[in-house]
Amino acid sequence: MPVQLPELPYSRTALQPHISAETLDLHHGRHHRAYVDAVNARIAGTEMDELSLEDIVRGSQGSLFEAAAQAWNHAFFWQCLHPRAGDDPHGALAERINLQFGDVQKLREEFNRAAMAVFGSGWAWLVQHPDGTLAITTTRNANTPLTGDSTPLLVCDVWEHAYYSDYRNERARYLQAFWKLVNWDFVSSQLR
Ligand SMILES: [Fe+2]
Repeated sequence: MPVQLPELPYSRTALQPHISAETLDLHHGRHHRAYVDAVNARIAGTEMDELSLEDIVRGSQGSLFEAAAQAWNHAFFWQCLHPRAGDDPHGALAERINLQFGDVQKLREEFNRAAMAVFGSGWAWLVQHPDGTLAITTTRNANTPLTGDSTPLLVCDVWEHAYYSDYRNERARYLQAFWKLVNWDFVSSQLR
């Protein structure tokens, strides 16, 4: 069963002006699709063909791992965004953020520092550890918390392909835009 490229959960113009349709076409339609195609090319005719994408990520190495992890990270990233702007987290997630970071603004600042410090390509994450605590972490290249013990809650793609069309090399401006799009309902739904 081939891995599928998931549809975007919004239209290609829905994230404008923060993320353009051109960027979504390139990022989802070309980059994400290429990772999915690369997974399928490598699993065709093997026993991995029967596995979920998550299990392929957890059970592979090398170029298959890189393609599968990128396919999974991107699918998760699209779900973390939503065109409705201006929301803040609420409920149990808000309580946990306030307890650990002080408030959501301090979470944003810490997340941004981590995201800015990723040298080259990678991802910035909010994760929940098995003991329930939240943490900000980053991964290089295709790496993903999915292979560890912590549960991913929120991710920002800081590969330059995520923002070059809209912001050139200005990752800080892209991060400002990212926070206007964060789908806190989805982040909450990932809490354990
Ligand atoms: Fe990406």
